[in-house]
Parts: sequence; C-alpha cells; structure tokens
Amino acid sequence: MVQTHLQDRVYADSIADPESFWKRHAENVHWHKQPARVYQRTKKTLKKSGVTHDHWNWFPEGEISTTYNCVDRHVMNGNGQNVAICWDSPVTGSKEKYTYQQLLNEVETLAGVLREEGVKKGDVVLIYMPMIPAALFAMLAIARLGAVHAVVFGGFSPAALAQRMEAAKPRAIMTASCGIEGNKGPTGYKQLIEEAIDRSSFKPNKTIVWQRDQLRWDPVLKENGQRNWQRLVKSARNRGLKAEAVPVKSDDSLYIIYTSGTTGLPKGVVRTAGGHAVGLNFSIKYLFGVHGPGDVMFTASDIGWVVGHSYIVYAPLLAGATTVLFEGKPVGTPNASTFWRIIREYKVTTMFTAPTALRAIRREDGDNEYFEKTYGEKGGLLTLRALFLAGERSEPSIVQMYQRLLQKHCADGAVVVDNWWSSESGSPISGIALSAATGDDFGSKRRDQPLPIKPGSAGKAMPGFDVRVVDDNGKEKKRGEMGNIVMGIPLAPTAFTTLWEDEERFYKGYLKRFDGKWIDTGDAGMIDEDGYISIMSRADDVINVAAHRFSTGAIEQAITTHPDIAEAAVIGIPDQLKGHLPFAFITLSTHNHPSPAVPEDGLAQQVQKLVREQIGAIASLGGMIQGKGMIPKTRSGKTLRRVLRELVENATHGEMDKEVAVPSTIEDREAVEVARTRVKEYFRVKGEHLHKATEARAKL
Ligand code: COA
Ligand code: AMP
Repeated sequence: MVQTHLQDRVYADSIADPESFWKRHAENVHWHKQPARVYQRTKKTLKKSGVTHDHWNWFPEGEISTTYNCVDRHVMNGNGQNVAICWDSPVTGSKEKYTYQQLLNEVETLAGVLREEGVKKGDVVLIYMPMIPAALFAMLAIARLGAVHAVVFGGFSPAALAQRMEAAKPRAIMTASCGIEGNKGPTGYKQLIEEAIDRSSFKPNKTIVWQRDQLRWDPVLKENGQRNWQRLVKSARNRGLKAEAVPVKSDDSLYIIYTSGTTGLPKGVVRTAGGHAVGLNFSIKYLFGVHGPGDVMFTASDIGWVVGHSYIVYAPLLAGATTVLFEGKPVGTPNASTFWRIIREYKVTTMFTAPTALRAIRREDGDNEYFEKTYGEKGGLLTLRALFLAGERSEPSIVQMYQRLLQKHCADGAVVVDNWWSSESGSPISGIALSAATGDDFGSKRRDQPLPIKPGSAGKAMPGFDVRVVDDNGKEKKRGEMGNIVMGIPLAPTAFTTLWEDEERFYKGYLKRFDGKWIDTGDAGMIDEDGYISIMSRADDVINVAAHRFSTGAIEQAITTHPDIAEAAVIGIPDQLKGHLPFAFITLSTHNHPSPAVPEDGLAQQVQKLVREQIGAIASLGGMIQGKGMIPKTRSGKTLRRVLRELVENATHGEMDKEVAVPSTIEDREAVEVARTRVKEYFRVKGEHLHKATEARAKL
C-alpha cells in the first residue's frame, strides 16, 4: 500500500477539520485568556453596498500578548541567556548581540517610554527605520502595549510615506536619524519625515528619533513633537520605568502592513494577534524546521516587507531561536561573500532570501568562488540546513544551482525551498515542509524525509490554505492547467481577514470577483498532478520588482503628474536581475508628430524623477515608449495592460509579430497595432542590449 507522505496528511487534516488542527497548535503559545473556540464563521454586511459576505475569525474570546510570547515567555522558561538577535551591519562596521533577557530589558523600558509619550492600547504607531536592533525593539514595544504598528519600508519616498500616514493615522512615528543604503553612505531621515508630515493631512503627535552616529538628526525640535529616543530610554532606566505586557483580544490588530493593490492607494493588510501567533509559531517549526534554541535564522529581507515582519522578527522569536538582523546588501557590502560569511559567523541553520539577491551574487561571483572555496571548502557552511526563497518566481536554474552547492557544502540533506506567499497570507501558502525530517512529529510517530523539490514549483499548499486554480468564472481547472489561483475560506490563521478600516475594499479586492466563494490571490499559475503549485505571473495590475510589489496604477499616477503627459500605462518588463522592471507607455498632451518611440533624454529623466520622488528609487522605470493612440482600452475604459505586456514580452524574445490575445471587449483594435509598431521601433533602437539580456537569461 502506498503511504501518504506526512506533509500531505498534515495538510489534509488541516483542511478537513481546521478546528481540531489549530486547537492543537494553539496550545503551543501562551494565552492570557484561553479562547472560547478555535474558529468562528460569520457574515458581514457592507455599509455602503449592503452586500453580505463570509467572514471568519480565529480563537474568539482568547486574549494574548505577542511580545510576551516572543520575549517574556522564553525568559520565564529559563532561556534568558540564549541569543535572540545578532545584528550584523557591514555598512557601519557594527555587530551586536542581544540575549532574550537583554531584549526583555530593552522592550519593557521602551514600552514604558511609549506609554509616557501617550501611546495606548489600540493606537497606531508608524515605524520608518533602517535595519537596526532599535527597529525590532520598537515593533515589540508597541505590541507590548497592545498598540498596532505600521512599518513602512525605509526606501519609500516622503510622498509614499505621507500616503500611508494619512491612511493609518498614527499617534506617533518611530524613526532614526539616518538610513544607510548599501555603500552609498547615510541618508538623513529628518528631511524625509518632516516632508512626509507636511504633506500628510493627518499629523502624528510625536516623532521619536533613534540617533545614529553616522548622521544625527539635528536639531531635535521639541516644539514639533520630536524626541530623542536614547534620552527618553535613559531617563526611563534611571527611574526604573517599565511596562508589563498588555494582552489584547485574539481578533485585535497586531499590525498593519501596507501593500500595493491595483489602484494608486496602498492596501492596509491587517494582522490579528491570536491567529498570527499560533500560525507563525506553527509555520516556523513545521515548514522551516526551526524549533528553538540552537536554531539560527538569517532572513535577508527588510522589516518593511512581510517576509521581514514574519521571519526576521516574529517567527524566530516566537520559537525562541536566534534571528540575524542584517543591514547591508547581498553584493557591494563589501562583496558577494557577505551572506556566506554571515552563515559561517553565526552558525546559521536556516537562510531565507529572494531569488534577486542570489542573481546579484551570481552576477558578481559567477564561479561561486566565495561559496565553494572561501567558506564551503573550509566547512564554514555546514550548519546550513535550508535555503528558502520567496517574493518572486525562482527560475529552475537558480534552484538547481544552489541545490548542488548545498548538497556539496552544507548539512546533510540541505535543501533549497521555493515558497509562495504574500502580505495578505502572513506566512507561506505553499512550500516543502522540513519538519518531517528534523523534529516535531506534527501528529505522527513517523519521520519522513521532506517531499522532493520540483525546481520551478513553489511546493505544495501549506496547512490551512485551501488553494485552487479556477477560470475567470470561478470554475475549477483540471490539474496541470493554468488559471487564477484562489483560496477557500477560511484562510490559515496568519492570514488577513480584512483591510484596515476598509471592509468594502477587502470585499471588492478579494471576494467580489468570484462571488464571495474564493479569495483571489491576484496570482496566476497551476497545480500539477502531484499537487505542486507553480506561480507563473500576476493576473492583475501588480508587478514584482526584485521581490517587491508595486501597483502599476500608482506608478502611472506618479507619471501623469508630469504636465506634458496626458496618459500612461505601466507594465512589467522582464529583467535579468530583478525579475521585472516597471516599463511605461506614455502619451504626451503636446504630441508632435511623428515622434520617436524612444523619448528624448530630458523627458525620460523628468519622468524617472517623478517616479522616484512619489514612490521611491526602488520603483525606478526600466524604460518607456512614447506615442499616441497606442494604449488599448476596453469599452468601459479599462486599460488593457495585459495586451501591452504581451507585446513587450514577445519583443524581448524577438517575436515582434506574434499574435497577442485581445479581449472582445476592446474598444479600438487599431491601438494594438499602433502599440506593436511603437514597441518594434523601441526595440530596434534599444533592443540590442535587451536582447542580449534575454538570451543570457534563457541560458540560465
Ligand atoms: N532606503 C533607501 N533607498 C533604497 C532602499 C532603502 N532601504 N532600498 C533600496 N533603495 C534604493 C537603492 O539605493 C537604489 O537607488 P538608486 O536607483 O538611486 O541606485 C534603488 O532604491 C533600487 O534599489 P534596489 O532594488 O535594491 O537595487 P540595487 O541595484 O541597489 O541592488 C540588489 C540590487 C539585487 C542587490 C537588490 O535589489 C537586492 O538586494 N534585492 C533583494 C531584494 C530582497 O531581498 N527582497 C526581499 C523581499 S522579501
Ligand atoms: P508581497 O505581498 O509583497 O509579499 O508580494 C506577494 C506576491 O509576490 C505574490 O502574490 C506573488 O505574486 C509574488 N511571490 C511571492 N512568492 C513567490 C514565489 N515563491 N513564486 C512566485 N511569486 C511569488
């Protein structure tokens, strides 16, 4: 008889009987008050439209403190001397370590400070910080008070920050005097934060500033609500001021994370306290094989992204493991060996990064000299059991290459695991669970090896995520067929159940498309005969750049603030390093005819500047085409970005004349041919190097 693999059995249990499945895992965290039930399904009626839809919540009536679970609990259990955080900052030449006891001291004092500064349960506090330990203290201190943090990535511009400020209405901002991006030297935050506050119609009361030696915030203007963080902490220490952990209801918000939707306005994904703690504590053990003291997790992301929230901060700390906080880049700080140096130095057992980072390393160190010779041959990488990749599609070549390297130089059975997830899911929706090979038996006495890896696939659905592939009418597709990837309700406990103060948008953005039956992930792909999921692209108007998510609508909005641009359509163009780059089709209001497809340098620079100022340098355009009558629309006026994307993708493969799928609802078919002519011209002029890039990619 063929035995079902443990991962398949655990998954089937979670879907068949979510109540008993998550009840068991809820026992692994500390509750200030035990929940009355595991899960509750109710209906919600939207105020504006009157539509009723399904709603669910986890662990009703339970009360919990995430900070208590991440910090106090380990100290109480006698693990206070274990290292919680290793900070490694090649950009400043600094390294620091904090035990759980030291972390508790920092967090309870900072929470006391915040309380004195007026922060209370339920308030929102915005964090805009570089990758320094103080940022983690801030997240945990806010959560300790039962307040809600909203971390905004430090690479967002003041305009983007202001947009998030208006939406979250934070009582206070926690920030630093500067960020240090790669080897560029410090960027002062004072001007950025002050400009953002100026732009925002909502003004936070306080700005609490962590002063860094590399560049100070000078002066700290008390009359503007600005406070010196270190001074406040020092004064609190002198007075013995501390704050106890304040439990919140399971369904209360732990944090908001803003992510890009299909419109210009970011979406405030809400993470609830109880489900997050239970689900994340489960996933770090089950999927990542990180069980506690002795396990060292190095997640090379940023706390501004969901991967950073979950696997730099909360999950390793929930498990009582060590997390490595890294302020640097995969290359250039100082070179492509940095990740491998960190693995050796901190005896990292589990690494997590984005494929883009590995591509950047490969570009600098094509022969893997650093991995193989400098660290591998000397046994410096032997602690590493797994390399997790997410944020964008991992091409099979990169998975295979690192799989070979891991087999040769890392722990026995070390694997590369592509896992798929999103800000909304809070933890991986799919992956290959390592726990079967390394630890807890998750309901089985049997020990299985992890399921085999299929390069190009992001593994199988994780417990609690009922993943399906459907056509545009919501009808399930056969195994192996491409379609929209959706999920059944409820989602696993780490996932969102609403958007911050915007239930209407939650319904419209995720439930409406499939009549409330499925949650739309916005991704397209397929599930094969064995249940492996492949994520091929976004099905909506979102693009992924270096594993960062951007709204094409938001970029278009920035571009059309140019006085001479009447219209813009943004798509993602394939890029050898970053997966995709934003690419714009622009129509000038002052069109001189005939105009070349490649805009003159002056205009291109102005447009680029607008994108960088209004969103951030991370959204910089990879190119633009100008022309008139080339942006196809539906009869209801919706831009057909998919058609433009296909034209550009075909062009990058040298297939300029290939037919593209044009929906019957198109208003003017001629626009497609005009766009094709423009794309041809653009690639004729610019195409040489793009072509080479694509050929190189194809060989990988
Ligand atoms: N603060 C300020 N600016 C930032 C920033 C930050 N935190 N992060 C990025 N930027 C800026 C960069 O300085 C750069 O500016 P420039 O155009 O003026 O040079 C721009 O935004 C683009 O940055 P980035 O996308 O990081 O590109 P890069 O060419 O500087 O570096 C890589 C290339 C591959 C090294 C980098 O993209 C990388 O590390 N990618 C991995 C991403 C990742 O880990 N994502 C995880 C999400 S789960
Ligand atoms: P974010 O919300 O910023 O984490 O972005 C989530 C999006 O990134 C997903 O909806 C996917 O489009 C993409 N993504 C994340 N992980 C993967 C993966 N392993 N493979 C393909 N795409 C991914």
